[in-house]
Formats: sequence, C-alpha cells, structure tokens
Amino acid sequence: MTLYIGLMSGTSLDAIDASIVDITEHRVSIKHAIDYPIPSELKQQLLTLINNKGGDNIELLGEVDAKMGELFAQAVNQLITESVYSADDISAIGSHGQTIRHRPDNKTPFTLQIGDASRICELTGITTVSDFRRRDIAAGGQGAPLVPAFHRAVLASNNENRCIVNIGGMANISYLPKDPKEQTAGFDTGPGNVLLDSWCHTHTNENYDKGGNWAKSGSLSEALFNEMLSDSYFSQAIPKSTGREYFNFDWIKQYLNDTSIDSKDVQRTLTELTAKTIIDAIDQYFPETQQIIICGGGAYNDYLNERLAELSGNRVIQNTSHYGIDPNWVEAAAFAWLAHCCINKIPANEPLVTGAHSRVVLGAIYPK
Ligand SMILES: Nc1ncnc2c1ncn2[C@@H]1O[C@H](COP(=O)(O)OP(=O)(O)O)[C@@H](O)[C@H]1O
Ligand SMILES: [Mg+2]
Repeated sequence: MTLYIGLMSGTSLDAIDASIVDITEHRVSIKHAIDYPIPSELKQQLLTLINNKGGDNIELLGEVDAKMGELFAQAVNQLITESVYSADDISAIGSHGQTIRHRPDNKTPFTLQIGDASRICELTGITTVSDFRRRDIAAGGQGAPLVPAFHRAVLASNNENRCIVNIGGMANISYLPKDPKEQTAGFDTGPGNVLLDSWCHTHTNENYDKGGNWAKSGSLSEALFNEMLSDSYFSQAIPKSTGREYFNFDWIKQYLNDTSIDSKDVQRTLTELTAKTIIDAIDQYFPETQQIIICGGGAYNDYLNERLAELSGNRVIQNTSHYGIDPNWVEAAAFAWLAHCCINKIPANEPLVTGAHSRVVLGAIYPK
C-alpha cells in the first residue's frame, strides 16, 4: 500500500476536500475522506482577494496564505485522526491550494494558488507537494485543467471513448479515447456550480440549490439563455481555462437586462446554461464520446443531471460512484495522485489539454 493525501479547495469555496488515497499505477482507492469547513471570516477574506475589492492587498495576501496553510494542515490532522493511519504511513500530501488569480492568457501569464506548504509540512510532519500549476504555465501551458491525466490513469477504457465531466465551481471535461495511442484532451467548458451558487445565495440565502429543486420550480428564459450562450468564452478556441474572476455574479448581471425575470427562472436558466455548455463542448470537440461520467459537487444536483441526461441524447451517462470513486473525492484524489507523480518524477501534464510545449513534472516539494 502506498498512501498519499490529496487536498483540494476549489472555486466554490464550499469546503476543503481531504482524502487518504492508496495509489498504484492505474488504480486509486480512497481510504478515508472528509470535508473540512472554511471559517466564514476566512472565506470572506478569500473572496476579497479573489474579487480584488479595494485593490490588491499584499498584507492580506500574506496573512491569508499563512492562514490557509494552517487550515490545510488542520484538515490533514483531522483526516488522519479519524482514520486508522498515522502521519508516518503517508508518503506525501498533494495540496492544490486556493486559487486567488488565474491569468493564463495575460501577456505574462501566471496563476496563483495560496496555502503555505511550509506550514502544512511543519504542522503535519508530512512531505508536502504544492504549486502544481505553475510549472505547466512555465512550459507555455494554461496550467489547467490538470486532472485529465489522472482521469485517464484511473477511468479510461479500451472498449469505449469516455468523457469525464467534473462539475465544481467551474466545469471541465477530459476526453479519454479508447485507443491508447490517441492523446487525452480536455478543457474548462465554463461555469459549473459557480453561477448557480451565487444566484441562489443572493436570493435564498442558501449556499447552493439543493438537488436543483429551486431551478426545477422555475421556467427557462429563452432570451436570457441565448444572451448568455453568446458569451465569447463559449466560442473561444481550445485550449482554454477559466475561473471565478470571469464567471461570477457580475457576469450574470451583465446579461440580465430584463430585471423583471423571476429569480427562480434565472436559476432555471443558469442551470440550463451549465448543462448545455457542457454537452455542446462534448458534441463539438469529442463527438465520438460513448459514455459521459460525472464527478464533482454538481453530481449531487439532481435537476442539473436530469438536464445533462436529456441533452446528451443516447450516450450512457452516470457518475464516478459507478466506478467505485465517490464524485466528491475525485479532485482530492487527483492531487494525491499528482503528488505521487511529482515525488516519482513522472510528468503529469497533458500538452494537448493545457497547450504546454512538453510534458513536465508538476509541483514543488517541501520535504519533511
Ligand atoms: N446536494 C446538492 N445539490 C445541489 N448542488 C450540490 C449538492 N452538493 C454539492 N453541490 C454543489 O457542488 C458545489 C461544490 O462542488 P465542488 O466539486 O466541491 O466544487 P469546487 O471544486 O469548486 O470546490 C457546491 O457549491 C454546490 O453548488
Ligand atoms: Mg469544493
């Protein structure tokens, strides 16, 4: 058994996902996993940094980087305490960090994930790998998405072409061709839950639309839907990746000219937008897809999944639990796997996915 810990805190800011994963070359098995809460004050500080309110604040950045490092370490210590393992059983932690900026298309591209890995290492006593995205950017790539290589390693089939759809704050797809000689492909299709969450939070005070029930109670606004669908991100050529600095509450407002639309109809329309842009991306770029496999928090939005099934025609559609991996833990497991790749000097970016000029080893190691 070779155990790694994966730590993921995505654009949704809903919680830190932490999992202990047993990793062999083509199989991962999740031994224990937890959601670790982000205190609301820290979440607000993260949002201030992400939304750039009040200008860039280096003091705040330094403070929140340190606090997130401590929080990640607490998540790991809680995870280990609840499990049958001890810190000595863990080869390394793979920590994605919290994305504060993602600017892959700038003249000088960069991406910034925070959560001090020195602190994680110090407070857990476990070698920590972080900063997975920057090496890919340095190699000319978008630095995202990074999970397709992991999806390929554990979810590809020799019998059918598959698309993995990860619906977190953003939605990203990985195309896994059945022919092992064909390259993995994938990109961010656009918003996953982020618009659904922010609209829902503003109008109902709930953090998310549980089961998609609120959206289901509304009706589609064709006009708003078509306006949003015309956004240039959806027609932008691949490789492409995006984040909360683009798709956010202001993005919705920019298209919401008719303010008389009922808020539940907007929620219904945003749900359709997420579903439609995912299926359109598959139809346009990977039409040979035979099976669609859903993961990420969006896998629990029943109404969104109903819409995805309807729009995907006669393709088989299911979620990763069918393959023994809880949809909630796929991303954390991916970063455990990426830590394993880094420690073993295995290149883990997919040039066709990120646009990097070559395969490179991802991550920076903080040895215990
Ligand atoms: N039962 C549910 N019903 C509807 N949406 C859900 C449910 N459970 C989780 N979600 C959605 O999943 C999101 C979290 O997804 P996650 O994969 O953790 O995203 P990220 O990687 O951005 O943190 C929540 O913010 C929410 O929108
Ligand atoms: Mg999350």
